[in-house]
Amino acid sequence: MNKAARGSLLGIEHLEAKEILSLLTLARRMNPLKPRPLLRNKRVLLLFYEPSTRTRASFEIAAKSMGAMTTLVLSSGSSIEKGESLLDTAYTLRAVGADVMVIRHPNAGAPLLMATHLDVPVINAGDGMHEHPTQALLDAYTILRHKKTLTGLQMAIVGDIYHSRVARSAIHLLSKFGVRITLCGPPEFLPDVATSLAPGLHITRTVEEAVRGADAVMVLRVQKERLAGTKLRLQDYISRYQLTMARLKLAKRDAILMHPGPIIRGLELTWEVADCPQSVIVEEVHNGVPVRMAILAKALGKVN
Ligand code: NCD
Repeated sequence: MNKAARGSLLGIEHLEAKEILSLLTLARRMNPLKPRPLLRNKRVLLLFYEPSTRTRASFEIAAKSMGAMTTLVLSSGSSIEKGESLLDTAYTLRAVGADVMVIRHPNAGAPLLMATHLDVPVINAGDGMHEHPTQALLDAYTILRHKKTLTGLQMAIVGDIYHSRVARSAIHLLSKFGVRITLCGPPEFLPDVATSLAPGLHITRTVEEAVRGADAVMVLRVQKERLAGTKLRLQDYISRYQLTMARLKLAKRDAILMHPGPIIRGLELTWEVADCPQSVIVEEVHNGVPVRMAILAKALGKVN
């Protein structure tokens, strides 16, 4: 197979710690309220085969705050509905002048396939159960706004970890920096190879054990259809795994509460937890803009 187009961001797994740090440092210099025409005349194609609110809006705002033109192509209402293949759509969008492609797709590996056939950088905005690298970067950025360093932190991830590309990318990133991660959820929602996934990764049976002493707690969305495939009823999930204030209090006093969104209040977390002072859920979305500005500028070779 050919090599992925230069500047592509396909996942966190194969990035080096220094590449991650350089993106995070660059993001700190980006201010969407002080536009810099770094990407003037560049065309950013946003290709979304799955629903998205935060990721799509923040990529678009990030690109526009640097002077780029953006075009959004959704699977519904485009030739994709007529059965056009991913690569044919990609060649079409390249032909209209795309300089960079941002893609979200239900199949793992779709961004890689595009990147090996195109001569423009491809950015993975979430591919199936594989990776969501820009989310992991904005999560690390958010943690570093509250904690001096990642090294030595303790983090709990609670919910449907098995199906979560957010969790996979976060685990890849945070374990490169020595974060100790504890996973908790129903057995059907836990990766079977968790212990071989990364050093310092643990699984606990109860939320209480996972959260106790944590510096950060990340809650993941739980889809009711997926819950139906487990032995648990909705009420059982809520009583065993829902993040409540009483459970959050077991974490460090200055612990932050994270969630990639969309949140389902009353299921994976309570209303009170979602809005509590420790919650950085809205801040994560806010930080997505400078982080994606940095990613786009880097992909297009506009910064070192
Ligand atoms: C997530 C996703 O789509 O992977 N959302 C996001 O991008 N912030 C998480 C989810 O949908 O559960």
